[in-house]
Amino acid sequence: MKIAIVTGASSGLGVELAKRLDRETGIDIIWLVARREDRLLETAKTLTLPTRIFILDLTEPDAIRQLAASLLPDDQVVWLVNNAGMGIAGPFRDHTSDDVRLMMRLNNEVPLMLTSSLAPFLREKSRILNVASVAGFLPQPGFAVYAATKAMLISFSRALNQEMRDRGITVTTCCPNPMETEFFLPSQANGLSMSGVKRIGLESPLRVADLAVNAAKKGRDMSVSHPFAKIIRVAAKVLPASVLFWFMRRAGIH
Ligand SMILES: NC(=O)c1ccc[n+]([C@@H]2O[C@H](COP(=O)([O-])OP(=O)(O)OC[C@H]3O[C@@H](n4cnc5c(N)ncnc54)[C@H](OP(=O)(O)O)[C@@H]3O)[C@@H](O)[C@H]2O)c1
Repeated sequence: MKIAIVTGASSGLGVELAKRLDRETGIDIIWLVARREDRLLETAKTLTLPTRIFILDLTEPDAIRQLAASLLPDDQVVWLVNNAGMGIAGPFRDHTSDDVRLMMRLNNEVPLMLTSSLAPFLREKSRILNVASVAGFLPQPGFAVYAATKAMLISFSRALNQEMRDRGITVTTCCPNPMETEFFLPSQANGLSMSGVKRIGLESPLRVADLAVNAAKKGRDMSVSHPFAKIIRVAAKVLPASVLFWFMRRAGIH
């Protein structure tokens, strides 16, 4: 069985990634992973390919083992989309240790451990798509842990892409600009808000998903779809940190 796995497929970008993969050939079934069963069922209804639903809190110690144990020896993971992620904003001093641990687990430990556990099921032309963020291009006061987890994911994914090349497996890192998803819902109580600057640079999850899957099919190591994100990526490389921090203060970015 040729399997595509999408984590965080119950809302936002994950839903669009699942829908986009549904249009691909060479996939027999899409595994949809998240905590909310009703929302995963809704996603499944929008797809034409068969689906299997995994109601899992990926930060729980046994979750990844459960996913990997569901694969049969002949199964191939043709797409692994590490999309589930979370961010809590605010000064570091206000974070509880649970806040920090959860971000590090879901944004870093989970994609790394999932990739490691599923590695025996990856074959030539398997695609790994890791969803990081524009926040990973530079340190972000007021969103420090989240930005650092995404920087780690970018660094890891790019290195892994080089390592996997000789097996014909590619790793693409998707770095979206802000998208209006549940990430920004007040009910998430994660301190995030759609400030003016973020609103100007908003991009649509549908477009992000489309371009990310296209980039992964071409074996590109990065998918940076929004012009602002492209500028930030370059600016972070060429400008001194003091200038970047000055700009961020002026723009009220976190
Ligand atoms: N929105 C933005 O502005 C933005 C910008 C750049 C990058 N990103 C990244 O894009 C990715 C998708 O985010 P989004 O914007 O689509 O946000 P979202 O709508 O909040 O979606 C997050 C997804 O992750 C799942 N998830 C969260 N905690 C989980 C857990 N413990 N176990 C399993 N699944 C979990 C959620 O499902 P359940 O709640 O059902 O578990 C949901 O499906 C994330 O990696 C995020 O960091 C977002």
